[in-house]
Amino acid sequence: MNNSSIYREALLEHIKNPKNLGSLDNPDLKAVAFNSICGDELQLSIELTEEKIKDCKTKVRGCSICIVSASMMSELIISKNINEVDKIRKKFLECLKKENNKIPKLLSNLRPLISLKNNRSRMKCVILAWDALFDCLSQYEK
Ligand code: FES
Repeated sequence: MNNSSIYREALLEHIKNPKNLGSLDNPDLKAVAFNSICGDELQLSIELTEEKIKDCKTKVRGCSICIVSASMMSELIISKNINEVDKIRKKFLECLKKENNKIPKLLSNLRPLISLKNNRSRMKCVILAWDALFDCLSQYEK
């Protein structure tokens, strides 16, 4: 199996079985991100314990790419320190913009998602969950 087939399988798995769907009852941080191009929306709720993400859920009204991205992001950020999550978010956005395919170890689980970067017209679908994450992290900073 080549890399693109492996990535496709991984993406399909998240479409069929998205992780951490729903919303938390009493989140410490909550944000809604809108895709102005298609009108879809994504809600992210986060529960913290000290400086770590204890749990997070996403409620997605959007396309498959948006669902995959939210699912992979949620898996990656749970149990991580808030500063590390911010680093992951920044590195992920950098990788989407880069010409080369170098991916830091920190983001290796996101390879299938980053492989979609050449599909520029769907970039907003990919980053919607990360926009909501940015909003939550900004609330935390305040
Ligand atoms: Fe709306 Fe992808 S088409 S989020």
